[in-house]
Amino acid sequence: MYSVVEVRETWEVAREIRAFRFHKGFDFKAGQFVMVWLPRIGEKPFSLAWKDMIIVKKVGPFTSRLFELKEGDRLWIRGPYGRGFEPVGKRAALVGGGIGIPPLYAFARAYKNRFDEITMIYGARSKEDLVPLDVRNYVNEVVITTDDGSAGRKGFPTDVLAERKKNFGQVYACGPEPMLKAVLQVMNYQNVQISAERYMKCGIGVCGSCNLGKYLVCRDGPVFDGFQLRGLL
Ligand SMILES: Cc1cc2nc3c(=O)[nH]c(=O)nc-3n(C[C@H](O)[C@H](O)[C@H](O)COP(=O)(O)OP(=O)(O)OC[C@H]3O[C@@H](n4cnc5c(N)ncnc54)[C@H](O)[C@@H]3O)c2cc1C
Ligand code: FES
Repeated sequence: MYSVVEVRETWEVAREIRAFRFHKGFDFKAGQFVMVWLPRIGEKPFSLAWKDMIIVKKVGPFTSRLFELKEGDRLWIRGPYGRGFEPVGKRAALVGGGIGIPPLYAFARAYKNRFDEITMIYGARSKEDLVPLDVRNYVNEVVITTDDGSAGRKGFPTDVLAERKKNFGQVYACGPEPMLKAVLQVMNYQNVQISAERYMKCGIGVCGSCNLGKYLVCRDGPVFDGFQLRGLL
């Protein structure tokens, strides 16, 4: 069932990345996604960054059309769908790469009082690709890495994770697949929850386009426990 949703606000947050805030909010769990439909263009999945917000990187036809929307324009949304992150333990690390930030931002904002300490380790290719948001309001520490060293530490978020993993009870990760693989290896598939991405059409476990081994990412994920992904990522 679709909700007709009006854009309340949209603004640029980084190079080719925009935030969209809606008039309507959704009940959701951090890590869940919605299917966004634009007439004559199609329908694509996006993580909720907050109950009324998505953050989108322009990569193709759908996101290019989305970028043309202005305040007051309408889009059609169904969901939220899928399995979100489970808050576990007292010391959390959020490991994000590039446009993997929205569900981690939602996690920090939703659970900041649930943990003794939340550390965000966030990497992007370059300074212009970092999505700053107001995440510092919701975590104890933010560690930035960039591939080219233009902001924060030069290197990958997993370099930092490898050095500090003993400090964290549970690691929550979302980002490009090579980064997710590295996170799983650093953590040896334990004490880690991963938000995976696959092409989606139906979003509700019917079409099979999002299969990942024996799982359907839309139905069994997008958040998986690390051990579930052994041999799959
Ligand atoms: C659960 C889930 C949550 C997501 N949340 C967000 C979000 O919060 N913000 C955001 O910007 N995007 C998110 N995405 C990705 C977004 O749905 C895709 O980028 C979408 O396909 C863009 O549509 P398009 O027509 O603009 O580009 P497309 O033509 O569909 O894609 C352009 C190019 O991007 C790459 N690509 C697109 N989707 C994928 C994918 N699933 N896996 C690997 N490569 C891909 C391919 O190289 C493709 O050629 C999410 C995807 C999933 C499955
Ligand atoms: S998108 Fe159709 S089964 Fe997952």
